[in-house]
Order: sequence, then structure tokens, then C-alpha cells
Amino acid sequence: MSDNIESHLQENRTFAPPAAFSEKARIKSIEQYEEMYRESIDDPDTFWAREANELKWQQPWDSVCIWNPPHAEWFTGAKVNITENCLDRHLENGNGDKTALLWEGEPGDKRSISYRELHHEVCLFANALKNNGITSGDRVLIYMPMVAEAVIAMLACARIGAVHSVVFGGFSADSIKDRLEDSQAVAVITADGGWRRGKIVPLKANVDEALASYDGVKNVFVLKRCENDVTMTDGRDMWWEDETAKVDANCPPVALDAEHPLFILYTSGSTGKPKGILHTTGGYMVGTYATCKYIFDMQPDDVYWCTADVGWITGHSYIAYGPLLNGCTQVIYEGAPNHPDFSRFWQMVEEYKVSIFYTAPTAIRAFIKAGDQFVDGYDLSSLRLLGTVGEPINPEAWMWYYNKIGGGKCPIVDTWWQTETGAIMISPIPGAVPIKPGTATRPFFGVDAAIFDETGQPVGPNEGGKLVIRKPWPSMLRTIYNDDQRFKDTYWSEYEGVYLAGDGARTDSDGNFWIVGRLDDVLNVSGHRLGTAEVESALVAHPAVAEAAVVGRPDDLKGQAVVAFVTVKTGIETSDDLAKELRNHVGKSIGAIAKPDDIKFASTLPKTRSGKIMRRLLKEICATGKISGDTTTLEDFTAIAALQK
Ligand code: WTA
Repeated sequence: MSDNIESHLQENRTFAPPAAFSEKARIKSIEQYEEMYRESIDDPDTFWAREANELKWQQPWDSVCIWNPPHAEWFTGAKVNITENCLDRHLENGNGDKTALLWEGEPGDKRSISYRELHHEVCLFANALKNNGITSGDRVLIYMPMVAEAVIAMLACARIGAVHSVVFGGFSADSIKDRLEDSQAVAVITADGGWRRGKIVPLKANVDEALASYDGVKNVFVLKRCENDVTMTDGRDMWWEDETAKVDANCPPVALDAEHPLFILYTSGSTGKPKGILHTTGGYMVGTYATCKYIFDMQPDDVYWCTADVGWITGHSYIAYGPLLNGCTQVIYEGAPNHPDFSRFWQMVEEYKVSIFYTAPTAIRAFIKAGDQFVDGYDLSSLRLLGTVGEPINPEAWMWYYNKIGGGKCPIVDTWWQTETGAIMISPIPGAVPIKPGTATRPFFGVDAAIFDETGQPVGPNEGGKLVIRKPWPSMLRTIYNDDQRFKDTYWSEYEGVYLAGDGARTDSDGNFWIVGRLDDVLNVSGHRLGTAEVESALVAHPAVAEAAVVGRPDDLKGQAVVAFVTVKTGIETSDDLAKELRNHVGKSIGAIAKPDDIKFASTLPKTRSGKIMRRLLKEICATGKISGDTTTLEDFTAIAALQK
């Protein structure tokens, strides 16, 4: 990443919001942004109450925010159902016939679903869940391809107060099992399969494998998507279509406490076990609604497309909830960006006249590498706003996105946030804030972001430090599911009452935030978080492995590549075949995204005298091939000498 940082430091190209954009935007000038920002920080209750009042509540709140660090409650006393705001509200406002989803499957099949139809399908499936005994507070695991039913399943859970936990379709059976156990889920919603690069991902088979060693699940709902053969277990497994045929579509939105849990989403941390991030209803709703409205500047005639998967937080906040809360029309695509080739996205932008497009820097870098011929010839003139998320964007990728995709006329919102924050925290407001390649610019309303040094003092411009948030915000995580102590230790123990994001950052003299990357043992591989400890524990579970240390290496395409240093047990021969076997083993225990790019066999790993693996040295070896830093605490120099060779 050091090249990126250097080019960041030299970056001074600034792009003011185009006048034509600002004129029509909700927030039209930097002065207007600053005034609203000031108010949102000085008087957050007034600011958030105003936003919340644009939505429908079944009972009003007593307090906007109660803050007992590190626990926050938002809109205490209120009753609300997020799906009433995503669906019913638009029907009541005469927008029932407006298109909610423009869905396209990887093989090219298409569906257009109006708000009325979406409401109908959500109510049907919610009744099917109820009919099978699933009730408010039950945890339901969703493991689906990117079909409309993935969103329908999430909303159906929310409709009845069931807590969804979506698991990315690329994760393995073991990962499903871990999440079932941790959340104590009682039901699973899946599909026979999903399409990915022309092949069928065997989703139902993976669920079966996970359920072989977890018996808490009473119902498995299976959508027919690929018509691949699946095994149906009597009394447990049922087809989506059969279950929805048994019920009617009358399903009033249940009145839930504003702090009722909405979902658990697992994310990697610096230990082996993923954390179940818990989000609740009212604050998350207001946070995703307001960020979508202001940052994507959503207008009634926009066609919005976020290319994320609902298995990640981006797919929760900016596919399933935020856009629907805003009554927007959105595109959902099932498959890979390069299927059948790298022109797929641009063909779809042209066809659906997409006006707001939100993707990850890693995808942009893959498009650049594939070549402009996949973009040329498509009419991208419908685009008016571009966004990125998930990792720092390098200036080269930013400029290509700006010029080649945006035609030099679309602002780019580089949005910094996390699974934990629930909604975007730092991003330009597109009609107001001047943008520069590589910076997420300014905090969103109500977000009191700062950079702290080791002692908890804010650092000055251009000094690096730790990114923190000093005030609570509506969509913040409430805890780690079943592990409040880990919640306190991870985010709140370094600085009292202040949220530690885990990212390194700096500000410039204009107050822009430049995010450098994770400070903990979490990698960012193609915009996805991956704990080095998770990969290490998968590796050491293999019978041939004695010890493993995993580090990131800068990678032009993926941001970071996964490098594993492995020592094998006595008597085991190392070979290319073993390396391959270990890669597949990690793929099987976590998912394909965790497969090490490189396995380096070593006779010993460099350790401190107290036995800790010196990852810093391993990282350095990966990045530069040699060691320059301090090695005085190293236990055995021969380990390093061998690795440098
Ligand atoms: C990184 C994704 C730089 C960061 C929404 C953060 C970013 C982690 C950006 C969260 C950005 C996300 N610029 N880095 N615009 N957005 N990150 O939980 O390291 O999957 O802590 O949430 O991604 O990843 P997560």
C-alpha cells in the first residue's frame, strides 16, 4: 500500500461539483453542508428527529438518543416496522406502480417488480414464515444468490420481527455452521443454487452439509433458481413456492420497538472467530434512509445500481433497505461482472439507463486491466453520480472511473464506513463538497469523526493517527451478538466513550479525511474483510500443518493478497501439491475469497523471545523481499535468513 500512500500525499487535483449537478441536488453548496453539519453535531436530537419524521412510526419516541457509553438507544419508546417504510408508505403515497426492482439474472433472465408487487411478495413470504412457526425475535439465516427473493426474504423477516443473518453465497458450509451456532438460528432460507460465471453454486448442498452438525434448524425454505438436483429432507425442507401458495398476502407490519434487533451480520475481526454485528430497527432505518437520500442525492426519477451482494453490509444498507426507504428504482444483478465478458455492467447501465452507480475500487481496477474496449461503444450518458466503497481507491482508478465511466461530468462519492457503522460515515455530499482522488472527504451529518494519537489527543492536519467517532450515531452497532465484552474490548477500550474504527487515517488542511487502511490484523481483499487469524486457524486445522502466519501483500488488483507462511509437521514433505491442497482446504473451511494467493513453506517462523510471531517482518519480506527494520527482539536469526532466501 506504500505506493498508494505516496500518491495520496501528492494528490492535489480538486474537482468542484458540476454546476448542473448542484442546481438540482438537495444540498447545493459547501456552506449549506457546513451549516447542516454544524447543527447535526451541536444539536443531534433536532437533526435526527427531523429526518425520522419523514418516515412512518406506529408510535412516537420519548427520547431521540440515550447514550450510556458504549451503549446507545435511539428513538426509545417508539414503535416502528422498517418494511412499512420500505413498502406500504410508497403504496399509500400513490407510488405502488413505480418500479422497485429491475432484476437481471446472470443467464440474462429479467424481472421488473413494482412496489406493489414487492409488497405482495414480502407479505406472502412473511406469512409463510409465520405459518411455519417463526416468530418475532427468532434468528433466520439467509444464504441466497442475488435474486429478488434474497431481498424479499430479508424484508419478510423484518416484517414479522424475525432477525435475519445473511451469509454471503461464496462462504462455505463450515462458515454457515459457525454462524448458525453463534446465532442459534431456527430456520434457513436458501435456493437450490445460484449462477456464478456460468456455473451453479450448490447453495442447498452447502446448507445440508452445515446442518449435518447443527440441529437447531426446524425449517429450510428452498427457492427454485437453477433447477439443479437437491436433496429435500422430509419435515424440514420445503419449497418457497409451495409455502407461499398456502397463505394469503394479508400481513400487517408488526409494531416493533425501535431497538428491536433487525439483523446480525458476521464480519472478520482480529481473532479467529467472526463477530456477529447486531443492528436494531429505528436508528438503522433513519441512518440508511438519510445517507441514501443525501449522499446518493436520490431523486424520484433516478435508477440506482449498487453492485454489492446482500451478503455484505453494503448490500444490506444500500440494496435491501436504504434505496427502498427512499422509494427508489434499483437494478439488481445476480452474477459476475465479467460474465460473459467485462462489458456486462456497461451494457446494463445502457439498457436500464442507470443514473447512480455504486461499486468497489477492486472492480474498477479489474475493468481497467481488462481494457477500454469493454466500455467503448456503450451509452453511459444516463449516469449522473458514481460511488465507491470498501477500500481506499488509488488515484489512477479514480481518474479512470471519473473520465471513462463518468464522462468527466459525474461526481464520485468515495464512501467510508463499516459493517459496524451500519451506514456511510465519511463521504462527499455530491452537490456540495469538492472531491479529490483518494479521499472520502468530509463526515456525514451527525458523525463526529476525528484522528487520535496514542494518548487520545486529536492530531493536526497531515499527521497520521487512528480514526475515531466521538458521538453516537443512529445506525451504530448495538453490540456483538452474545458477546458484549468483546464489543467493549474491540471498539471502546482504547479511548473511553469513543468508537475506535480500526483504520488509520489523516486529515488534510481542508478537513478531508484520507483513509489509509486497517491497523489491526484484518486484511482487505478485493474490498472484503478477512481476518488473518481466521485463515491461520483454517490452515492449522489441516493435519500436515504445524504453524501458520498469514499476512497481506500489496496487490494491484485485489488491494491486498493473502500470503501464508506455513511450517509443516515433522515427516511431512512440502510440495506444490501440498500447497494446492492447503489453498483448497482454506477455501473449503472459509470460502474462495480466503484462499491464500501464495503459500510459502518455512522451516521456522520468526518469533520474539516471548514466542509471538513477528508479522511485521513477514509483511516486510512479502512487500520488499528483505528486512530493514528493528530485529533486536527476534529469537532466531536463521529463521529470517532462510525466509529472505
Ligand atoms: C475499509 C464495508 C477506504 C476500511 C462498507 C473499513 C474503506 C473496512 C472505505 C470496513 C473507503 C471501507 N476508503 N477504506 N471508502 N470503505 N473501507 O465492514 O478499512 O466490509 O474499516 O464494510 O473497509 O469493511 P466492511
